[in-house]
Amino acid sequence: MVNIDLTGCDPFVAKERYNGYLNKAITAQKVLEEETGAGNDFLGWQHLPSAIGKADTGALLDVVDRWAEREIDLVVVIGIGGSYLGAKAAIEALSHTFAAHIGGRGPKVVFAGENLSEDYTAELLDLVRMRNPACVVISKSGTTTEPAVAFRLVKAYLEQTYGKEEARHRIVAITDKARGALKSLSNQEGYSTFVIEDNIGGRFSVLTPVGLLPIALAGFDIEALVRGAQDAEKALAVRGTDNPALRYAAMRNLLYDQGKKIELFASFNPKLQYLGEWLKQLFGESEGKDGKGIFPASVIFTTDLHSMGQYIQEGERMLFETVITVEQAHREVTIPADPQDLDGLNYLAGKRVEHCNRMAQLGTKMAHIDGGVPNIDIRIGQLDEYNLGQLFYFFEKVCGISAYVLGVNPFNQPGVEAYKKNMFKLLEKPGY
Ligand code: PA5
Repeated sequence: MVNIDLTGCDPFVAKERYNGYLNKAITAQKVLEEETGAGNDFLGWQHLPSAIGKADTGALLDVVDRWAEREIDLVVVIGIGGSYLGAKAAIEALSHTFAAHIGGRGPKVVFAGENLSEDYTAELLDLVRMRNPACVVISKSGTTTEPAVAFRLVKAYLEQTYGKEEARHRIVAITDKARGALKSLSNQEGYSTFVIEDNIGGRFSVLTPVGLLPIALAGFDIEALVRGAQDAEKALAVRGTDNPALRYAAMRNLLYDQGKKIELFASFNPKLQYLGEWLKQLFGESEGKDGKGIFPASVIFTTDLHSMGQYIQEGERMLFETVITVEQAHREVTIPADPQDLDGLNYLAGKRVEHCNRMAQLGTKMAHIDGGVPNIDIRIGQLDEYNLGQLFYFFEKVCGISAYVLGVNPFNQPGVEAYKKNMFKLLEKPGY
């Protein structure tokens, strides 16, 4: 299971206070699991992993096979927020860092509909024209503007280039069971569709087809991912104080109440950059309401020690740090000896790069604790589908518990509507 080390918080919190927050977290866990809290009509994600069977993953893998037969080499995944970040995080975590340059498993998966930049859109269409493309369009509500604009353009290209009938085979829609423009459009056009259940919100949907289909299309093992989540579902249902989800939820709330208003998600593995983005959405949209909430930020170390490091070390003391540690690298690279040693690096000769990374991590942890930044360390063995499945479920569970300790409904996002209303008015959308 995901391991959590809270010793980096010891200098900042009194044991008795922490135990009090642990009790609050146990109460919140009960509320979450017994489905008696605010937003309890959005708890479908809780038992989702154990409900996923071979038939579900099989239906997704059929799409992979069908598109392999058509020799599809580019899949445009269209979606925004919870309809994109989980898949993006997983694919970035599991892919070769330079897959865009050296190729990789499966067709290339790219994302669209997560912004309204005209240059991005034009450049996406440049790419689509050069490849043999297909498209997965994802929108739970089926009415979100950003993906709707991107989909209209990609759909038009596919229909003009391949004809309506062939375009139909190159489009899969993932949307709500019954409502929304995407659902009616899909019914009318005869697209293959997968359903996002009503009781699963966008940012809790990575283990539905929303995340699993793009991850499978990118060539990764979704069954192993689901197995990881299933094991996490079992392990985190335990009501003991050893439960890492409870310990983490308790500690982050205690730190928040002690004035640490910002949680900095950090990793020393750049493949986790988008996991940081997924975490920011998960916690930011779930907790930031009613004038409350830990502000989530993310960094990649050691890279950002050379940009954000100064602030973290000596800026306003309102931060705590949650580091996601991958214990084993997949590859080994050893630093060579150099007879001249002009760069003075021979003291590292024969050492692995990962050894340097570990020492950097340890040194950073000590420096930041000395500088007044509590440190939470969340550890997985290695970066693979199974562990990623565990991490996704772990953070979802922590988020639900933590938000109930904070006293907010984690499953709504009323604030997101404010910009939309203004934008619709400015765009002269009928009815605004
Ligand atoms: O977590 C959420 O619910 C949101 O971030 C949504 O995922 C996002 O707004 C996209 O919504 P939709 O899938 O309805 O297009």
